[in-house]
Amino acid sequence: MQYGAAVTLLLLAACHTLVKGDFATADPDACGPVYQPAYGYGSTPVELADRDESTFGEAPDPYHVRLSWSGQPEAEATLLWRTDEETMATRVQYGADADYGEESAGASFIFLVGESRVHEARLCGLQADTEYHYRVGGEGHWSADYHFRTAPPAGTDVPVVIGIAGDARDNQATWAQLLAAMEEHTPDFVLFSGDAVDFGGHMAEWDAWLDAGVGYMEDHAFVMVHGNHEFYAQNFFGLVAQPANEQTFSLDYGPVHLAVLDDSTVSADREALGAWLDSDLGATPQPWKLVSHHQPAYSSCTTHGGDDELAALWSPVEELHGAQLDITGHNHNYERSVPLRGGLEVGPGEGTVYVVSAGAGADLYANSMANPYTATATVTDHYLILTVDGDEAHGVAYDLAGNVVDDFTVPRSP
Ligand SMILES: [Fe+2]
Repeated sequence: MQYGAAVTLLLLAACHTLVKGDFATADPDACGPVYQPAYGYGSTPVELADRDESTFGEAPDPYHVRLSWSGQPEAEATLLWRTDEETMATRVQYGADADYGEESAGASFIFLVGESRVHEARLCGLQADTEYHYRVGGEGHWSADYHFRTAPPAGTDVPVVIGIAGDARDNQATWAQLLAAMEEHTPDFVLFSGDAVDFGGHMAEWDAWLDAGVGYMEDHAFVMVHGNHEFYAQNFFGLVAQPANEQTFSLDYGPVHLAVLDDSTVSADREALGAWLDSDLGATPQPWKLVSHHQPAYSSCTTHGGDDELAALWSPVEELHGAQLDITGHNHNYERSVPLRGGLEVGPGEGTVYVVSAGAGADLYANSMANPYTATATVTDHYLILTVDGDEAHGVAYDLAGNVVDDFTVPRSP
């Protein structure tokens, strides 16, 4: 993506009335709603196709099969996959083993003519902390057998391992390498801190990002933060399935409450999003509160530093409600702050620790360490493994050679 073209699109987006959270429900026979994807600028509304389980095209075999969450992960799973445009069957068979026994139908749509058909089906009423096998597709054209485990019930005090990475942009080879390394730590789910691709409207870039995920994305969910390089493109909304408007939502996994916000859509009302965060964090009884968005409030990165507006609007809310960690991307390096409250260092457990994980392939940026709140920074491709376990969260960041870039602990807030 040429920089000039990106700027032009940003200007267009600023002038365009963006349609946010414009969802319709469909397929009342399926368990729960299937969401119609919102559409970004330059796109047209997408209609869900009528159900048709017997029409197959010339390339009907499911690909880019992915487990996602569009509800609470202890009881729900959303499966996404793609086929050629002509294949209409959208079925999931699932159960305790590869004999399945249960079936759910979903819905499908095309958001870019000439590319593919996206299929989306929800499974609801699942048992918490339970292994499920599944396959997707239709008669005669089923995918391989995959399996996943539902989340432990919210509030259960069990260890949770979260893989964290962000900013692949235009280097999907590094993203693929990083995924393989990250998966060695068997994360329960992955949090991607935004900017999966360089330009969100380029399907070929999404194809490459998803190609790298084959072998990983079928078995556990990737929670996606909308970054500025997603450009509010229809591709993002068409290819992911997440709660609410897919940009700003929260979910619970065992003892962890994770709130995700979109700070990068041009028309985002950050004040209103801050009010949402206040209400969301204020309502959760979960002992661990993690907040993720794309652009760091606090950063010593020299390309773009901290975002003062976010530090003024969102950080006080996070600190007030005892959010232990704020996880972002955007500034292409690894960076961690000391515990902060109002921009000033406080003792462990008395403030929020701000982590930037933005090294999944994009060109790296320098870090000056100029701000006293910056505890550590390393300019390298990396991923972070965060293990929440009882009264402590343990974070270890690794580079692609397996070297430890950072090793830190954060106590559960009082
Ligand atoms: Fe970014």
